[in-house]
Amino acid sequence: MCELYSKQDTLALREKHIGPSCKIFFAADPIKIMRARGQYMFDEKGERYLDCINNVAHVGHCHPEVVKAAAKQMELLNTNSRFLHDNIIEFAKRLTATLPQKLSVCYFTNSGSEANDLALRLARQFRGHQDVITLDHAYHGHLSSLIEISPYKFQKGKDVKRESVHVAPAPDTYRGKYREDHEDPSTAYADEVKKIIEEAQSSGRKIAAFIAESMQSCGGQIIPPAGYFQKVAEHVHKAGAVFIADEVQVGFGRVGRHFWSFQMYGEDFVPDIVTMGKPMGNGHPISCVVTTKEIAEAFSSAGMEYFNTYGGNPVSCAVGLAVLDVIEKENLQGNAVRVGDYLIELLNEQKAKHPLIGDVRCVDQVSQTHLFSTAE
Ligand SMILES: Cc1ncc(COP(=O)(O)O)c(C=O)c1O
Repeated sequence: MCELYSKQDTLALREKHIGPSCKIFFAADPIKIMRARGQYMFDEKGERYLDCINNVAHVGHCHPEVVKAAAKQMELLNTNSRFLHDNIIEFAKRLTATLPQKLSVCYFTNSGSEANDLALRLARQFRGHQDVITLDHAYHGHLSSLIEISPYKFQKGKDVKRESVHVAPAPDTYRGKYREDHEDPSTAYADEVKKIIEEAQSSGRKIAAFIAESMQSCGGQIIPPAGYFQKVAEHVHKAGAVFIADEVQVGFGRVGRHFWSFQMYGEDFVPDIVTMGKPMGNGHPISCVVTTKEIAEAFSSAGMEYFNTYGGNPVSCAVGLAVLDVIEKENLQGNAVRVGDYLIELLNEQKAKHPLIGDVRCVDQVSQTHLFSTAE
């Protein structure tokens, strides 16, 4: 597309017509991007940028197979999921095949926030409990229901933490409350969750859900110590609550050796609800909540229909299927392992030379030090 306005006019019009809380990157010298392909973005003068910041263009910007799949389905039909259509079924089948067997029921939505909001509804409906335990520094989305459980946001603004929201310490063994020199950090951090549950119960409150990213991304690239999630799940289940794993940012093979980040912690850890988004549509707005039959049936038994105008439409599902195909065909998980291992090696060399580098994190050694970087 040709440029409609000069860069200066674009900026001035944006200031006039777009809400001031919608920030731009590199505000001192903003970039106007006109097109992108693969790992590159191009500005209005044709200047090429290597894109190290987008966490959505998972298979590369404007991947031809994804674009083709969208255009092909768009020409045929786009409608809502109240009509029978094979794309939604095929997509649900392919997605659930990547997950443990008990996670077999999908609800398609349009953004990570929408997926997390629905996950909270499912959790609250399951046993009629209301309260939520979240981790310090967490971000789970921009809806009112999610700002409430996102200390990353609400501690910055003027919002006051609700009584129904409980904040557990982030299981950070580098800078957190219990560090690598602690004899059992996973139990110590999980006991903090247990304490929160007990205190809430003693004042008559009931926990509906514990929610956490499978590894905290914008909250500091924090990888919990081995065994932490298993122990938390035990406490949470005992309280009649569910475990929600937010994979919106860290899912779809990004951690290399596993398709989902929660799988890093071993086969004995399976969340009750998994939410996904961002890379799922490579830029097309699609997201999903996957849960167990039991939780889905409890949601449905409330008698209220769940309808989402765009969620699971044939075009979105065609896009999602194409993304899965590309991840597989181009062995992008293998690429994440190769490039990740190489980066870790180089960073560790630098760490040995520079005391300024305190911690290098990678995701395949859950109990050790790691590096993995994404933007919000
Ligand atoms: C972990 C996590 N969950 C949820 C969301 C919300 O997703 P969306 O911006 O698509 O609503 C984000 C977005 O940054 C996120 O990082």
